Amino acid sequence: MSDSAADGGVGDGAGDGTRAVRAGLPESVKYEPTLPGPVFAAHFHLPGEVAGPYSYGRDDNPTWTHLERAIGELEAPGRDGVETLAFASGMAAISAVLFSQLRAGDTVVLPNDGYQVLPLVRAQLEAYGIEVRTAPTGGDAQLDLLDGAKLLWLETPSNPGLDVCDIRRLVEAAHARGALVAVDNTLATPLGQRPLELGADFAVASGTKQLTGHGDILLGYVAGTDAAAMTAVRRWRKVVGAIPGPMEAWLAHRSIATLQLRVDRQDTTALILAEALRGRDEVTGLRYPGLPDDPSHKVASRQMRRYGCVVSFTLPTRARAERFLDALRLVDDATSFGGVRSTAERRGRWGGDAVPEGFVRFSVGAEDPEDLVADVLRALEESAR
Ligand SMILES: Cc1ncc(COP(=O)(O)O)c(C=O)c1O
Repeated sequence: MSDSAADGGVGDGAGDGTRAVRAGLPESVKYEPTLPGPVFAAHFHLPGEVAGPYSYGRDDNPTWTHLERAIGELEAPGRDGVETLAFASGMAAISAVLFSQLRAGDTVVLPNDGYQVLPLVRAQLEAYGIEVRTAPTGGDAQLDLLDGAKLLWLETPSNPGLDVCDIRRLVEAAHARGALVAVDNTLATPLGQRPLELGADFAVASGTKQLTGHGDILLGYVAGTDAAAMTAVRRWRKVVGAIPGPMEAWLAHRSIATLQLRVDRQDTTALILAEALRGRDEVTGLRYPGLPDDPSHKVASRQMRRYGCVVSFTLPTRARAERFLDALRLVDDATSFGGVRSTAERRGRWGGDAVPEGFVRFSVGAEDPEDLVADVLRALEESAR
């Protein structure tokens, strides 16, 4: 377990870069490394009574403790009483919240334009006798479905459509009706948005994406303010056993040290790319919450500090989008997002999202912006032929 102890020793006024490089570090010990290496242990010495933090490797691990503190310090800087739990993947974290909080007969409100595994989750919830209501993210449409709900699930910005909802407004409406609120913070990262500060009870995310940013591990986390609710989330993790390996947890923590560098670079380039795409005739439906005229921008600018590294747009046909992706040299045709190497994909190939055939989700990496934009513009030209 990790109660995020406020600021990790960097002081309340510390900037994001300082916070990121120091997040979760233990007190320095002479001749020990700054970030202790991964602890590979299925069990720990445990003479006598079960007391103390570490007993069995499915329950806790010192490498998780450091990582969980780091994430807690980023999701809720300067705030005590926030508990953070690491999971094997974003889906493990999402499922832990939903399935630990909801019982047969309860009602949950989900977005209908969120991550494409949510419909599978919905079917599972319904199989357990839980009522699921859905509405789009944009326009705060979930607000109309809250009467009688036990939990409101938000994903903002939504993946892949990049709509944004007003977290504070929805939290106030949900809390007034006695419902808890969870926000999927994957796309924004804690440097882009802090749902707990906006009143949410849970900030949940896939750490597979920009949080760790190298496309080499799967990870998830839940940070929460409600002690009883988090006890249930912890129990769920123990029961299901969807735990991160110590190596993944350590790699994640190491990666978080560069989070601010990566996020600033990638998000800045995402805006440059979006601006370059705006002038193109073959591009429609361009979305990036950082563009001043994007439908999401007004709400996003109130609650986000950075706008993410994902840009979405539509090319005229499926064939054109496929030719475009094929022509890119610096961008891998791959799913996922948030990595230092740019990726893009025709999202319709999965069949789960309500998007046009030519819809492209583009994840901007850490390449030099001018190189990336040149590659994209060249690929657009070549794909026209
Ligand atoms: C918004 C969002 N939430 C959750 C997930 C699931 O994360 P993971 O793949 O780590 O299970 C994803 C994966 O793409 C996602 O985009």
